[in-house]
Amino acid sequence: MSAPTRFAKLTPEEAAELIGHGATLGFSGFTPAGAAKATPLALAARAKRLHAEGKPFKVRVLTGASTGASIDDALAEADAISWRAPYQSSKALRNRINRQETEFVDMHLSHVPQMVEFGFFGKIDFAIVEAVDVAPDGRIYLSTSVGASPSYLKHAEKVIIEVNRHHTKQLMEMHDIKILPAPPHRNPIPIDHPLAKIGTPFAACDPEKILGIVETDESDGVAPFDPVDDVSEKIAGHVVKFLLDELAAGRIPPEFLPLQSGVGNVANAVMAGLGKSDVPSFYMYSEVFQDALVDLMEQGRLLGASATSLTLSEPQLKRVYDNMRFFAPRIVLRPQELSNNPGVIRRLGVIAINTVLEMDIFGNANSTHVAGTQLMNGVGGSGDFVRNSYLSILVAPSIAKAGRISTVVPMVSHVDHNEHSVQILVTEQGLADLRGLGPIERAKRIIEKCAHPSYRPYLHDYIQSATLGHVRHDLARCYELHQNLLKTGQMLPK
Ligand code: COA
Repeated sequence: MSAPTRFAKLTPEEAAELIGHGATLGFSGFTPAGAAKATPLALAARAKRLHAEGKPFKVRVLTGASTGASIDDALAEADAISWRAPYQSSKALRNRINRQETEFVDMHLSHVPQMVEFGFFGKIDFAIVEAVDVAPDGRIYLSTSVGASPSYLKHAEKVIIEVNRHHTKQLMEMHDIKILPAPPHRNPIPIDHPLAKIGTPFAACDPEKILGIVETDESDGVAPFDPVDDVSEKIAGHVVKFLLDELAAGRIPPEFLPLQSGVGNVANAVMAGLGKSDVPSFYMYSEVFQDALVDLMEQGRLLGASATSLTLSEPQLKRVYDNMRFFAPRIVLRPQELSNNPGVIRRLGVIAINTVLEMDIFGNANSTHVAGTQLMNGVGGSGDFVRNSYLSILVAPSIAKAGRISTVVPMVSHVDHNEHSVQILVTEQGLADLRGLGPIERAKRIIEKCAHPSYRPYLHDYIQSATLGHVRHDLARCYELHQNLLKTGQMLPK
């Protein structure tokens, strides 16, 4: 396929001029991978100019998940986002959200395409989507992520495509794109293996809606991971031992089960630890394909992976592009409705490993809000996996901020994952297997296995002094640690 001559070439500035105040925009991007780059930056510059002239300019922003700096950072710094969904991880945007200057809807990522499909967010004015190629009939070959782009392309009134020459067109060999039919006539999704393909290598778009093409040549700018630290390594060690024990006990079948691993350094360390372990070579049915997985795939430890984004630092991405003959048949990139689909996760028996901010002694977990009020990133896809997996494992260091904060508390200050979904909790202190335990036994196990020793006496005392019941709580005291933190900067007195 050659240059899509049917469509006008636009500069980023020309593209940005087409977008009006108050518009709802569906950007490509799931993590920095595949995020639209030049148009949002030009839009941010335009917003700043208009603000300097005393004119209002803000847009409503939808994406697949978090984005590169070109979208969330740039538009937040330009004070150009009035409303945002479904996930973010930008410091500039987070600060605006926590000051209530931007409204943020924190959502399960698998829900986004269906909600767009049925108009839950109102009309989508523009889809602004990065691709590696565009055919004159509107077939859009996406770049390093799929996310919710197929739905934005289908439903937006107008479309701007950024064709990014930085990425290989061979990415289309990984893409498997399908928009599900409407309920109640939805057949079972025929994904019975992480690498099963059920769709097309392109997203469809009515070519009449395409206003033009912006050409770019930019990397995704994915940051490499920090070296694995001692705490992450210990957490990884507990997870690996647990999975090997489950395998030996026959509770995981000999061919193993597909894994999902969340975002961040701890999750990356766990994957690296699994690669080095005696766990049999495995598949992944996950959301994000991140750095550690390239090595594992080359070593034959990771047999194949389904994801919605290829979130790789430049050296790792280059290794994949240099060896597409090897990697393309082993990686499938799907829309987030399918990568995170509850039915498929349950069918495949996924083992999910996600990171949380805090957990309580009864097994509820908070992934999103520090001290119950301050948004960190969002629930992302963690809820899709935690609720529906065969084994749901949540991990966190036992303390944060040099021990001033215990991540094991009497009652979480915000609930993202509840005790009914969470099965295994892990910190560097140990692993609490909660399966088959009632609330009080759970509490004892979580305190002994997961809490930092300096917080265990407080937590045991809390249980002893709490009101007797199926779950024991002292409603006057359950947030004492959080209140201490807010008043004094630490959870326990010195
Ligand atoms: N209270 C206050 N602050 C806390 C805390 C707590 N209980 N626990 C951690 N923190 C702080 C850390 O000190 C750190 O602060 P810093 O940035 O100032 O250093 C920050 O929160 C991040 O913690 P870190 O240990 O570096 O975690 P991470 O990078 O592994 O991210 C989450 C952890 C929970 C924020 C991240 O995994 C997330 O956003 N999860 C939700 C989405 C998700 O799971 N997606 C995957 C689905 S596929």
